[in-house]
Amino acid sequence: MTARKSIEKEINQLRTAIDTHNHRYYVLDEPSIPDVEYDRLMQRLKTLETEHPEFVTSNSPTQRVGAAPLSSFASVEHEIPMLSLDNAFDEADMEAFEKRIQDRLKNRSEIEFVGEPKLDGIAVSLMYEEGQLVRGATRGDGSTGEDITQNLKTIKSIPLELQGNDWPSRVEVRGEVYLPVPDFDRLNQNALKSGQKPFANPRNAAAGSLRQLDSKVTAKRPLVFSAYGVGLIEGYVRPDTHAKMLKLFKKWGFKVNPEVTCFKGLKGCLGYYERMLEMRPSLDYEIDGLVFKVNQYELQETLGFVSRAPRWAIAHKFPAQEEMTELLAVEFQVGRTGAITPVARLNPVTVGGVQVSNATLHNMDEIERLDLRLGDTVVIRRAGDVIPQVTSVITEKRKKGAKRIKLPTTCPVCDSHVERIEGEAVARCSGGLICAAQRKEAIKHFASRKAMDIEGLGDRLVEQLVDQGLIASVADLYRLTVDDVAALDRMGPKSAQNLINALEQSKSTKLERLIFALGIREVGETTAKTLVRHFGDIARLQQASEDDLLAVKDVGPVVAQYVRHFFSEDNNLSILNALIEAGVNWPAQSSSSSTSNTSTLEGKTYVITGTLESYTRDEVKEALEQLGAKVSGSVSKKTTAVIAGEKAGSKLVKAQQLGIPIMSEEELTQLLESY
Ligand code: IVH
Repeated sequence: MTARKSIEKEINQLRTAIDTHNHRYYVLDEPSIPDVEYDRLMQRLKTLETEHPEFVTSNSPTQRVGAAPLSSFASVEHEIPMLSLDNAFDEADMEAFEKRIQDRLKNRSEIEFVGEPKLDGIAVSLMYEEGQLVRGATRGDGSTGEDITQNLKTIKSIPLELQGNDWPSRVEVRGEVYLPVPDFDRLNQNALKSGQKPFANPRNAAAGSLRQLDSKVTAKRPLVFSAYGVGLIEGYVRPDTHAKMLKLFKKWGFKVNPEVTCFKGLKGCLGYYERMLEMRPSLDYEIDGLVFKVNQYELQETLGFVSRAPRWAIAHKFPAQEEMTELLAVEFQVGRTGAITPVARLNPVTVGGVQVSNATLHNMDEIERLDLRLGDTVVIRRAGDVIPQVTSVITEKRKKGAKRIKLPTTCPVCDSHVERIEGEAVARCSGGLICAAQRKEAIKHFASRKAMDIEGLGDRLVEQLVDQGLIASVADLYRLTVDDVAALDRMGPKSAQNLINALEQSKSTKLERLIFALGIREVGETTAKTLVRHFGDIARLQQASEDDLLAVKDVGPVVAQYVRHFFSEDNNLSILNALIEAGVNWPAQSSSSSTSNTSTLEGKTYVITGTLESYTRDEVKEALEQLGAKVSGSVSKKTTAVIAGEKAGSKLVKAQQLGIPIMSEEELTQLLESY
């Protein structure tokens, strides 16, 4: 093979491998290789394409990063119009839908339907010729849309080439582009932090992201495409049902919503509605209802359509997630880090089946952006489990002389002054731990499920404990007695004992949970895990310099600074020591930086305690010393790790008190084998 040929072959292999990994990651949610390996393949492909531009194709996975900005979008005529749907709002509407179908078909037997979530995003059309994506367009008015090919190519769940080789010569796949709720929340949080305007809902965010003339902006938004229908199809025998068409979409590499189900008759539709309505809050994407479609294409054709909507399908809408109500007052709450959050007190209103009387207003910038005044009529949005939001103000309904909302100059809880740093959207109470609100929030966070998971220590109880002076910091929790707790409101000896047991249980934890529980600013669960994976033990994290922290993947200067600052405060260190002294413990973990970055164990000191199964102490000592480590008989702050076998005694306890990592025999074997 010539050199050129072999490069072309490698390029093709890399493209297939990357496409397969994209499909597994973005369509099937089953990642098959670590991110670093994926990055390596992509980097290699980019290098080869840069060196050999003659091999670059428009559908190479490297082309997903976005192209040069456009000045406007070209128009696209849809060869087959993109229809919309009629709505059903209740059972009666659904009954009428079934009856209309049965009348038209002159058939009283039960019709087969496919039920699908009505994804709340943007409808798009993707045209494939000979398996290659050639054009992507918006629905527009149904006849004419906009050419947004460059933007759609950045969406990783859209195949640039159809998988396999059994596909039509031309096929138009239609579906919805949407933004998953967690990604929407992240996008809006970042927007709020940098003083930008947040999106009102995930649908607007998806629409805004798709309508970017600069596709590099779209590439940064984690949009998802889910296929739900076929438009034009040529050079292929279309299957006889919609359900089979969806199966083909999956075979070609598309994501099809996993909740799509086939059933018969109105009863089937209503049962599916009940199930999906219940499931709605736990889905990580928004749906505004369900779509019911007659499964048999032949029946669909007989039914045809009226004006813009087919007779063979209907959208059964869910209760609205937005309502209007009156803003009664704005109160200011103080969070764990002193952040002052304005909260809207509302005239109670039912939104999506739940009564809402409070909504977050985020910060003062947001109040200004909304141009909110007391007594205003506002639009409230409540979706899933998230806190309700005020999305807009109906200014036409404003009463004369409605008052503006002002940021208080002093903390509503501790009276310390309120600071607002230039360029930051958030105002903060300057009281630190003097402020009871900040202390309470820190303790609530410590006890929460993803932190120390102290069962039964709810918000009310924390508030009482602080208000009665029984605790001032998280370390005091472990000093509480049954008598202390039993004396509180709505507590008896039994519930008090339960709480003490739960506190005791919480002491055996994982280091990442403890780090998260400490409430270091900007250190969420994921960062806590990353830090533990990197540093392995708390002593190393505690001693890490800003540079050491910056060397950790995904840790930026802001996090590095907060972590460093946290561990340089004596007060924090004494709380941490008190927790360890109280018995908070965790299994040792090996760190990525201690095993892979050094070739020997030079400078490390180990202590061996207890009985090991497969080695004598002398064998371990010799093996470690050969690698340059020291083996000592007593535990001190300088000990790297304690190797603990069966019946380990006081040395183990001391190691736990000092926060020194404990290594099991298995981990020791792994360590020795890694050299
Ligand atoms: S089918 C003729 N299926 O709802 C059938 N639409 O008003 C046309 N939508 O513009 C659409 N999820 O954006 C269909 N599973 C689904 C859908 C869905 C969301 C949207 C789509 C369309 C609108 C219909």
